[in-house]
Amino acid sequence: MGKFVIRGGRPLSGRVRASGSKNAVLPMLSAAILNAEPCTVIDTPDLKDVEVMLDILRWLGAAVEAGFDPRSGRGTITVHARNLKTHEVDEHLMREMRSSIFLMGPLLGRLGHARVCYPGGCAIGPRPIDYHLRVLRALGARIEERAGFIYAEADRLVGCEVHLDFPSVGATENLIMAAVLAEGTTVVRNAAKEPEIVDLQNFLNAMGARVRGAGTDVIRVQGASRLGPAEHAVIPDRIEAGTFMVAAAGTGGAITIENVIPEHVEAVTAKLREAGVEVEAGAGVVHVSARGRVRAVDYKTLPYPGFPTDMQPQFMALASVADGTSIITETVFTNRFTQAEELRRMGASIKTEGYTAVVQGMERLSGATVTATDLRSGAALVVAGLEAEGVTTVENVIHVDRGYEALEVKLRGLGADIERIA
Ligand code: EPZ
Repeated sequence: MGKFVIRGGRPLSGRVRASGSKNAVLPMLSAAILNAEPCTVIDTPDLKDVEVMLDILRWLGAAVEAGFDPRSGRGTITVHARNLKTHEVDEHLMREMRSSIFLMGPLLGRLGHARVCYPGGCAIGPRPIDYHLRVLRALGARIEERAGFIYAEADRLVGCEVHLDFPSVGATENLIMAAVLAEGTTVVRNAAKEPEIVDLQNFLNAMGARVRGAGTDVIRVQGASRLGPAEHAVIPDRIEAGTFMVAAAGTGGAITIENVIPEHVEAVTAKLREAGVEVEAGAGVVHVSARGRVRAVDYKTLPYPGFPTDMQPQFMALASVADGTSIITETVFTNRFTQAEELRRMGASIKTEGYTAVVQGMERLSGATVTATDLRSGAALVVAGLEAEGVTTVENVIHVDRGYEALEVKLRGLGADIERIA
């Protein structure tokens, strides 16, 4: 499962480039099966989750080419789903990645059939899919759950008005993708507003779909009869960028992050400034420089544009060395404090009670052997290792590789003493 060995206590400095967004590219790759023509996505990140998604697309019968643009060195992926050979997603592949649930919408839209199994994914909560099934039923799909599989079919999906109980990112994406080829107009209210949904809208419209309103809580989709070839550059990963921002703050460093849309990291920027960190946004870049020990601040995770749940574990690692006591409230997932136990092994003083964690900042953490249980808690342990005195070994970094491209290489480029042990 691989591990990182980190010798902490060194302030980060220098420049690093954020990769393309994992949470934008995954739904886009899924949306490519709506289209019988080829779709190319540019600036794709080289991640384990992307590899799994490409394996699923190949399994379904799409031709997939993944490579690097010789000029820019950036990842490019072309998917050509001219003929799909099945509507049944391989269950082993599906278990490897929770987000494969949003293959249902495109499969139903393109083939009128889909068979998926209950998705796997992170240990951050039950990860139900009831919102997904509800919105697909609203479009006219008949859905049956049998022996661990979910069978969906629809002769013709028909546009409708849907009001989401919760602005679920995945359910919003599934609904939009299923609606692209449906008859008539679909209106989604209380839709998720994440930037990755705006990026999905732009990709779908590049294919000839007619989606409007992404980024607001009302999205309208006009059913299209056919789609054409498309090429689209994926937005930068705002969570990877935020993770570097927190690592710079926690190590008392000063770094510049390139390939960032400053507006997408606004909530993280505001919190770091509140903690006494200097953050300046430039054209496509963000400069972060800590001025001594950060102050303790309180955090409450909310759907976008609120403070992102995907940054909560990393901020817990920052709060662990802050001057004062921080109160962290996680409102999006039910079990997203798994990093607390591991941070305590490094000397952090954290009390968790339900959705709330109280963190008493320490002068210093001390290196220890800790275990990553999911993507962002793993990233939090890396941040803590960079902050800590002595040597930290983070085990099971395969979780980190799901969402961070060559993290140890990028951190070494910022002066960190970190190596990967296979
Ligand atoms: C997306 O997950 C992201 N993943 C997550 O990032 C992110 O944490 C999450 O959105 C919230 O921003 C991808 O985009 C691939 P939700 P998703 O549906 O779509 C509950 C990372 O670290 N829920 O908005 O699964 C759910 O259990 C990952 O990159 C239902 O109850 O998130 C959760 O408590 C982690 N029923 C809440 O809603 C459903 O049918 C938010 O989930 C669906 C979700």
